[in-house]
Amino acid sequence: NTLRRPVVAGNWKMNGNKALASEMSQAFDNQHFNNVEVIVCPPFPLLTQLSKESVKVGAQNISKFDSGAHTGEVSADILKDAGCEYVIVGHSERRVDNFESNGLVADKVDIALKNGLHPILCIGEPEDVRDAGDLFDFLSAQLNAVVSKVGIDAFAQLTIAYEPIWAIGTGKTASPEQAQEVHGFIRDFLATRNKEVAQKIRILYGGSVKADNATELFSQPDVDGGLIGGASLDPQSFISICRSAA
Ligand code: G3P
Repeated sequence: NTLRRPVVAGNWKMNGNKALASEMSQAFDNQHFNNVEVIVCPPFPLLTQLSKESVKVGAQNISKFDSGAHTGEVSADILKDAGCEYVIVGHSERRVDNFESNGLVADKVDIALKNGLHPILCIGEPEDVRDAGDLFDFLSAQLNAVVSKVGIDAFAQLTIAYEPIWAIGTGKTASPEQAQEVHGFIRDFLATRNKEVAQKIRILYGGSVKADNATELFSQPDVDGGLIGGASLDPQSFISICRSAA
């Protein structure tokens, strides 16, 4: 799609170390991916360890607060100072492990945007919701919470990642048709509110994307790239996935 620049983001989750950060930086030095935007999201202490020459850097979480007495939290300013341009918000693991509600996720998107960080907003359903036929209601509620907080126009500064929970870390990826069906739904949902934003916004697929299934997923018309977990920890696999998005 010529309207949207493809993007591949690696979410290291709670993995990696300084050695992997330098290995990744070296592996990506002098690589060219034909217009594909490559982002790496390591744990906080490794943010400054990645070479910003070779990849863009994102965080996996952000505080809803601006600054001050909030032990254990990391603010937008601190992230930017560490070289971050992006931040993953609302990953299903944080929604589950840390009880992040739709409202809190919306607050985090808002503070990221106000501070010039580009949020990668994650949405996605558990398997029982899909089985019950409630998929689109569930995703609409996740999207609506953010739309009501920041307004539809602000989505021009956002990337969305669709990550069906049943496909995360399971090796069971959504089929390209299932991914396209949901990506199309998300774009239509946005288009009824703002056509231009809907055409412009990048929608990534996440959930067991590997070097051998990336091309087919990324070739769907509304799939603009991927958010990669496990396979982003191996430089050669991640490079190959980035190439698939070109
Ligand atoms: O954020 C990426 C993610 O949740 C997918 O993880 O390991 O299934 O690629 P994985």
